[in-house]
Amino acid sequence: MADAIAPPSLDIDPYSTDVLLDPYPFHETLRDAGPVAHVAAHDVYAVGRYDEAVAVFTDHRRFSTTGGIGLADARKPGASFRPLNALLEVDPPDHTALRSVVNKVLSPAAVRQWRVDMQRDAEALVDALLDRREVDAVTDMAEAYVFKVFVDAVGVRFDRDAILAIGDMSFNQSGPQNALYHRAMARAQPYLAWFEESQQRHNVAPGGIAEKFFLAEDAGEVQPGIASNLVRTFVRGGMDSTIAGLGSTLLHLASAHGQWDWLRANPQKVRAAFEEGTRMETPFQTTYRVTMCDTELGGIALEADRKIAIFIGAANRDPRRWPDPDRFDLRRQTVGHLAFGTGDHNCIGQMIARLEAECLLAALLARVRAIEPAGAPVWRPVNQMRTLDRLPLRLVPL
Ligand code: HEM
Repeated sequence: MADAIAPPSLDIDPYSTDVLLDPYPFHETLRDAGPVAHVAAHDVYAVGRYDEAVAVFTDHRRFSTTGGIGLADARKPGASFRPLNALLEVDPPDHTALRSVVNKVLSPAAVRQWRVDMQRDAEALVDALLDRREVDAVTDMAEAYVFKVFVDAVGVRFDRDAILAIGDMSFNQSGPQNALYHRAMARAQPYLAWFEESQQRHNVAPGGIAEKFFLAEDAGEVQPGIASNLVRTFVRGGMDSTIAGLGSTLLHLASAHGQWDWLRANPQKVRAAFEEGTRMETPFQTTYRVTMCDTELGGIALEADRKIAIFIGAANRDPRRWPDPDRFDLRRQTVGHLAFGTGDHNCIGQMIARLEAECLLAALLARVRAIEPAGAPVWRPVNQMRTLDRLPLRLVPL
């Protein structure tokens, strides 16, 4: 620690629209600056290299989520902050206790039932889309599918405009109060009461994940009020992320030479596509921790009580970890990618997201000889997320 040096300072705003639409030049600058940098525009530390990202993810004693996983520090007086997330923004041991209750709800038996439903819904969706040949893979496939199967699995009310607005709010709220933030907050305003109401017990469907959270609350396994907080977390965290990952995966399958053909020849590798798609275009681009003490990382001195950003998308393309990182390659060993985080807070819904992707891609593989770009993809600028706005594709049936 005595020899640790101050972090180099970067003069680029990672939340500018240019960077959000094409984050990769900034990621390279961040990684090349050193193990940790200081982002002057927001006065936060940032890591973009793989090893340091893992180090921050896996050491809650030094790098805690209790200041919130967004840019603002929830502990600071006057910080504008949504209610803290009962699972994600809590350290062990409280986190461990709640996580084990949620894990029980996401049991293997529940997953088996979802698989049956998700396969059926994926086949029906792809059959219907094949009649049209040209589709927007964002709205017609990724959104249509997730809005059906995930909403059914959780057992919550659904209103498309409301859910899109709430998602836009959630993933812009984690960044600075820039134009994207203000636009998203205004868009969500008319739906906030609806959203709050949808998390209440009398509005959840019998048999779904949401109801199981309320049953755990009845049984005294979690504190009163936690069930609706968990429902909110699942709805906010589980849909846009999966839609983003599916869209990016379809983009690369359609545009990376020979990859769809390889997958058709190796359909048992269908899961590899979503892994590589989410590594390449990491849906949650950033998350934050707060430093709990004066410390050191990679020879860089860090002060206590400061926010530190993990640029997950940068770590997932770090050439120190990934050979030829900018290439979409279904044969790649993707184990260890960080799209779902790692450590205590690693994504608890990842098997649901993976199952959704597997069912949708398998239904496509069984029916579609080729998927081809039918126009330019359009990225959507969102403070925390890498996601497509439009993805015109042509589906060529078998
Ligand atoms: C492609 C889809 C998804 C991606 C990329 C993703 C990504 C992530 C990441 C990066 C984290 C860790 C955040 C951190 O440590 O700061 C996380 C945590 C979490 N995710 Fe996901 N997620 C996805 C889908 C889902 C789904 C479908 C659900 C719900 C079923 C979900 C629920 C959660 C929850 C509750 C946590 C917090 C876990 C904890 O604190 O113990 N996610 N996710």
